[in-house]
Amino acid sequence: MQRENTQVILARRPEGSVRAEDFEIRRGPVDAPEEGEVLVETMFVSLDPAMRGWMRDVPSYVPPVGIGEVMRAGAVGRVLASRHPDFAEGDHVTGLLGVQRYARVSTRGLHAIDPELAPLSAYLGVLGAPGLTAYFGLLDVGALKAGETVLVSGAAGAVGSVVGQLAKLHGARAVGIAGGPEKCRHLVEELGFDAAIDYKREDVAARIKATCPERVDVYFDNVGGELLDIALTRLAMRGRVVICGAISQYNNMESMRGPANYMALLVQRGRMEGFVVFDYAKRYGEAFAAMGPRLARGELKYRETIVLGLENFVPAFNRLFTGEKLGKLVLKA
Ligand SMILES: NC(=O)c1ccc[n+]([C@@H]2O[C@H](COP(=O)([O-])OP(=O)(O)OC[C@H]3O[C@@H](n4cnc5c(N)ncnc54)[C@H](OP(=O)(O)O)[C@@H]3O)[C@@H](O)[C@H]2O)c1
Repeated sequence: MQRENTQVILARRPEGSVRAEDFEIRRGPVDAPEEGEVLVETMFVSLDPAMRGWMRDVPSYVPPVGIGEVMRAGAVGRVLASRHPDFAEGDHVTGLLGVQRYARVSTRGLHAIDPELAPLSAYLGVLGAPGLTAYFGLLDVGALKAGETVLVSGAAGAVGSVVGQLAKLHGARAVGIAGGPEKCRHLVEELGFDAAIDYKREDVAARIKATCPERVDVYFDNVGGELLDIALTRLAMRGRVVICGAISQYNNMESMRGPANYMALLVQRGRMEGFVVFDYAKRYGEAFAAMGPRLARGELKYRETIVLGLENFVPAFNRLFTGEKLGKLVLKA
């Protein structure tokens, strides 16, 4: 069968929010896999805030995407042809397949997934990098203890929604910060957070004070900027600030707003620590073993926003920054 590929190519480095002109939609033939490679049909593409960083020409924990290259992205798909003994036609896999319909890839970093265990798209969210990030960020970096109070920003997103639920499952209080009354209602009524703060409409400092009367033991920060500064003022003695991300700054990294209130760490004998989830690769099994059964029992809930069509990559990606989505944002190929 003659297959035609659709690939989203980085055409130039975006300035500010990504625009259609920053990418080219390329159509063309699909090559057969070579020795050691597989050909995968992409089914769902993960849209992650980190991808904005990969578009920039600066060294980071992974190299930037080159101009003219397929935009890097995590994805799940089905193996169409294999020239590697560990993978067979029909297997479902997850890995960095990129924003493209067909991916001819080496099997390094490719993992088999079980579609019977969970819907395929869940392997990009609660059972993928965001879920793992929440798990290790909260329990390892944040060193959460029962009875403590966790405040998490970006709380209605892929990572934040798991952070709050894990906090509750570990006997802590969970307060989320999110944009809009709908998201706040979702956090409390559906995900079981103790309270939610609408940073777009409410006085965040006053609301943190009201909802975290014993102050904040772990601030799990997905947003950075002003919210980080406000949260620092409410840190508890020996509080921990987990630097998971800073999405409020990603479209303007040239004039990044750093924390002005860091002296709160001195006064409260606190600690602020960043991490990258990939560092925990050897311990992913531990997280799956802990979260899988909870997911199966319905104790861990998740939402997804699924946008149709690879050609809608740019408007879909921008929803990460406008917040026009709930839970994990995914592109369906
Ligand atoms: N360290 C790691 O290894 C690692 C791994 C994965 C992800 N991360 C980081 O984790 C964070 C969350 O990632 P995710 O995949 O779960 O994304 P997400 O939370 O599902 O989506 C991003 C959300 O951020 C909120 N947001 C956007 N701009 C904002 C602003 N200016 N102020 C406040 N909130 C804003 C929006 O929600 P609202 O509607 O609430 O505004 C949006 O829905 C990101 O910073 C990401 O880079 C880090």
